[in-house]
Amino acid sequence: MPRVAPLRSSTNPVRSAKRPAGAAHRRVAIPVTSRLSAKDEESKAIELVNGKVTSGPDLSVTVDGLHMPNPFVIGSGPPGTNYKVMKKAFDEGWGGVICKTVSLDSSLVHNVTPRYARMQAAGTREVIGWENIELISDRPFETMLAEMKQLKEEYPDRVLIASIMEEYNKSAWEELVGRCEEVGVDAFELNFSCPHGMPERRMGAAMGQDCDLLTEVCSWVNEASTIPVWAKMTPNITDITAPARVSLDAGLEGVAAINTIQSVMGINLDSLRPEPCVEGYSTPGGYSSKAVKPIALAKVMALGNMIRNEYDGKKSMSGIGGVDSGYDAAEFILLGSDTVQVCTGVMVHGYPVVQRLAGELQDFMIQHDFKSIAEFKGASLPYFTTHSDLHSRQKAAIAEKRAKKVGLANDKDWTGDGFVKETDSMVSNK
Ligand SMILES: Cc1cc2nc3c(=O)[nH]c(=O)nc-3n(C[C@H](O)[C@H](O)[C@H](O)COP(=O)(O)O)c2cc1C
Repeated sequence: MPRVAPLRSSTNPVRSAKRPAGAAHRRVAIPVTSRLSAKDEESKAIELVNGKVTSGPDLSVTVDGLHMPNPFVIGSGPPGTNYKVMKKAFDEGWGGVICKTVSLDSSLVHNVTPRYARMQAAGTREVIGWENIELISDRPFETMLAEMKQLKEEYPDRVLIASIMEEYNKSAWEELVGRCEEVGVDAFELNFSCPHGMPERRMGAAMGQDCDLLTEVCSWVNEASTIPVWAKMTPNITDITAPARVSLDAGLEGVAAINTIQSVMGINLDSLRPEPCVEGYSTPGGYSSKAVKPIALAKVMALGNMIRNEYDGKKSMSGIGGVDSGYDAAEFILLGSDTVQVCTGVMVHGYPVVQRLAGELQDFMIQHDFKSIAEFKGASLPYFTTHSDLHSRQKAAIAEKRAKKVGLANDKDWTGDGFVKETDSMVSNK
């Protein structure tokens, strides 16, 4: 059985650290009540106070010692790219925030514009798919550190997770981990999954698809960190459980899935050039938003079963991919997710969407009389099986139905003795 790092107490109000962590910089909590717009009030949106629901089923979760008022976490990307937007996320009630992925040297990160392409439902402006060729953060590491420090000072009781990525270099990973911990982040998410740009430096998905590299890098990070660490998995691999298993076996607390799916949004039939088009050229990007949810659910189901069967449920999972409603989130939790991340959904609906997500999740829980997230986490996992087992079950069900069937199969079966009873059993409108 893989080692589970013991959680010890710390002064951080949102977590108990793997190892004790200094937290002298943390100050007072700022109470925040987010207000609902008239439109929200028509929907299932509810009021959140410091991210907490004020009535109804409890949405709070504790994962790897991190206490969150609700399971909704900002997924790494534009919605966590600077102090201003991360603060907004906390103010609107998000349970946790994962910053845009940072690395030590942002001068090596060269973004292009345009970098997005959207798929909209026919005849509407509804966004169903989103491709990006955005790289990790191109803001100086020191700036991001200072902003995360400020955020933790102002919101000591809210969960801030640093998404980090580096090259195959032990001391670089150690420095990245150490410097982020110094500013008081609560946990790490290792970006082993960006499908574009970064693989050219053997980072991101290139690392996440190589189990030998992963074993090494995860061990380095596990050794260096004193706080929980999640490995963010790429869906661009045949069996997502293989890299997840080696990451967990290296001692990490959990996995997050999925990052974006490698994609080409389309070809412009006038110019014959691919989208998104930069100076006439493009490169395959990462696909997200509603359209990826079924693929994400399949990957999350595989990981949920793996955690349940191989780790006795003692590793955590953060589900991601196309979440657009609280009902979507319920599906990810039913497949074993502890928390649910949203990235594109925030870019489409804005930060206040968390109030609708929370209200819809509560609505689902009320319908089933669930009082807490723990009551239904993983509840749908037992209903997945092999195709051949589906066939056996169906055969057995048909046989059982036939055995129960009353009436005569053939005229030769009339006995004459039980004539009245036999006739009665064949009447439909009794
Ligand atoms: C524009 C954009 C930028 C992203 N940047 C990052 C990133 O820096 N690091 C990361 O781990 N994931 C990044 N992602 C992936 C998301 O965090 C998420 O895994 C993926 O988009 C699927 O979730 P969604 O459908 O809710 O967006 C990005 C996604 C988008 C759309």
